[in-house]
Amino acid sequence: MTSVIDLPYLDTALPVADRVSDLIARMTPEEKVGQMLQLDARDDLEDHVLRRQAGSILHASPERIRAAHELTDRTRLRIPLLVAEDCIHGHSFFEGATIFPTQLGMAATWDPGLVERVARVTAVEVSATGIHWTFSPVLCIARDLRWGRVNETFGEDPHLIGELASAAVRGYQGDGLSDPTAILAAAKHFAGYSETQGGRDASEADLSRRKLRAWHLPPFERVAREGCRTFMLGYQTIDGVPITVNDWLLSDVLRGEWGYTGTLVTDWDNVGRMVWEQKVQPDLTAAATAAVRAGNDMVMTTPGFFEGALAAIEEGRLTSADLDDAVRRILTLKFELGLFEDRRRPAPERIEAAVGAAAHAELNLEVARRSLVLLRNDGTLPLPAGGNAPARRIAVVGPLADDAQAQLGDWAGNSGQAGWIPDGHPRHLISTVLDGLRERVPDGWSVTYTRGAEILELAPDPEGDTFPDGQPRPPVVTPAPVDEAQLAEAVAAARDADYVVAVVGDRIELIGEGRSTATLDLLGGQNALLEAVAATGTPLIVVLLASKPQVLPPVVDDAAALVWAANPGMRGGRALAELLLGEIEPSGRLPVSFARHVGQQPTYYNQVRGQHGDRYADLTQRPAFAFGEGLSYTTIEYDGLHVAEPRVGPGGVVRAAVTLRNTGSRPALETVQAYVSDLVTSVSWADQELKAFRQVTLVPGEERVVDLEVPAADCTIVDAAGKRVVEAGDFELRVGRSSQQEDQLTARFTVTA
Ligand code: NOJ
Repeated sequence: MTSVIDLPYLDTALPVADRVSDLIARMTPEEKVGQMLQLDARDDLEDHVLRRQAGSILHASPERIRAAHELTDRTRLRIPLLVAEDCIHGHSFFEGATIFPTQLGMAATWDPGLVERVARVTAVEVSATGIHWTFSPVLCIARDLRWGRVNETFGEDPHLIGELASAAVRGYQGDGLSDPTAILAAAKHFAGYSETQGGRDASEADLSRRKLRAWHLPPFERVAREGCRTFMLGYQTIDGVPITVNDWLLSDVLRGEWGYTGTLVTDWDNVGRMVWEQKVQPDLTAAATAAVRAGNDMVMTTPGFFEGALAAIEEGRLTSADLDDAVRRILTLKFELGLFEDRRRPAPERIEAAVGAAAHAELNLEVARRSLVLLRNDGTLPLPAGGNAPARRIAVVGPLADDAQAQLGDWAGNSGQAGWIPDGHPRHLISTVLDGLRERVPDGWSVTYTRGAEILELAPDPEGDTFPDGQPRPPVVTPAPVDEAQLAEAVAAARDADYVVAVVGDRIELIGEGRSTATLDLLGGQNALLEAVAATGTPLIVVLLASKPQVLPPVVDDAAALVWAANPGMRGGRALAELLLGEIEPSGRLPVSFARHVGQQPTYYNQVRGQHGDRYADLTQRPAFAFGEGLSYTTIEYDGLHVAEPRVGPGGVVRAAVTLRNTGSRPALETVQAYVSDLVTSVSWADQELKAFRQVTLVPGEERVVDLEVPAADCTIVDAAGKRVVEAGDFELRVGRSSQQEDQLTARFTVTA
């Protein structure tokens, strides 16, 4: 009898494809169905591994990872597990790991190189802890700000998303899967998940194929072609069809047109949801049949897929061979990662050296600094901290000024998805705004703190504690009442200070999956707090610590300064203090527009041309702050935009130059943004789209010519037949500091036929 050791699939000298084929030929239908299952490691691991023979687990503490691997040693073929986790801005739930700004915060840096470094560091930490696969990055386009998951995106623009997402994928996947510090990336949620109705999470996306091709698919196409090894499928339906069984999207476009050979994973219980939530399949047997036929590889957290798929085989709706493509793709990942030889278990020495390493914390501080967006400044900032300036008194107020979880945001610490670090990340690793100011103010300055307001109160959902699938229902949020005593304390502190720093925003209970918001207002006593402290006349600096753009009350229009920090991570408070005190230069730019009123949704900049008028009767349509906006502590003038060769063929490159001049007294990191407007299109199209950007530093007084290149092949639209084409004709190149036309210089060019 051959011992298991001598089997060809265990022979490392054989090519991966041969090892996979050998193994598949030995597998029973149960073992194949099991390989397709990814189950929640917080449940019964023995049942998952020994009975259902799961191919993958997620949400596993290090102890559960070890236990699960031991269980696989008791299975017939000893097929290793793929261990997955949402490590989306750092190693979310590993105590003491480096937690970076959220994806939206990272997007505000507009710096793919920085995002790649973050992903690399994350992979180094994550891979040491026994995890092979991160469910990151998110490529959804943030369009309706009410959606609870705006913070997980790179913002509203497909070009910026594509640049940053491919950087993240490169960082995660390192030098390829044989690299022990590489982890699998997952581009999610394919596709159109963010196109919600009224911001309601996972509602039907009202999208045509043309709109998908126009805006939602390009970032995915890009990372597919660049080798992102896995894709996660969105929850939602489009035109009645759940993504999980959307043949056009999965087979025609992804696997067909783009030639994608990677692995697909459903989102959480997508297969079950077709039965109990969307009600488009009568039972799990039918749902499993449909999911296999549509080309899904791994089925996340639908344990009943096991029984469903086996019943389908029993009834002749599926054959065991129908599972082979999926199993082949999953096993290929495992062989390429070398898991048959080395499970890549949690490695104590590597954990010790990598997790939360000092160099990672340094990078984290750099990203946090770069993620901050200065939106308003009457000259109060930076605070006069240098030289012989007299000592100042700062009154810090606001419910988020000393809130550690608000620094981290969703998918980190005790944000709710993992139970094994109930107290969150160690408090001493997290710098709040209050911590940062106390640490950074010059000697002799004073920093006081009073909360001034509460944000919300929680009550159990009257519908019950859980959804039909057993998942917890989030509690119901009601705004906290204004507390007059708290207000009075804050007002007294403000009167007694030279500056008020008010830290306001949203809290974890208003952020994330299933937690969209009907309004975008600052909840609870926060607006009253801002009004009350502003009324003291002490210069008011508003720090908006918010997962997504909020609608700000009119009093903020008159504030001395406004800074947005989108959950800036563990070092965020320190970075904010440095910014306020002028130790660093503000350089973040908005990756998403801010609305003036929730009723303006959506406010993204690249909307399709053509409507009656350009305003509401009672309000402008203009956003409060537009995509690309952000101030420096200096002024940068743009001048002399020039297109070298204004006629280019379809294969040519539009080469332009613009002169920048730093006319202020501080250095700057300026993000030069190049938008293209196709002046007449065969079908309606966005008035302008971002096509290129460059970041340049300028010392005071410096003048610099910045070259920009836009390939004519990028000046596309999607025509009425759904084809992406360049239409010959006249275009406008718009270059400036933001997407606002008053911030842009323009020059014409023509693309010839
Ligand atoms: C559901 C979320 O939609 C997805 O983004 C995440 O990766 C999975 N759950 C796994 O936690």
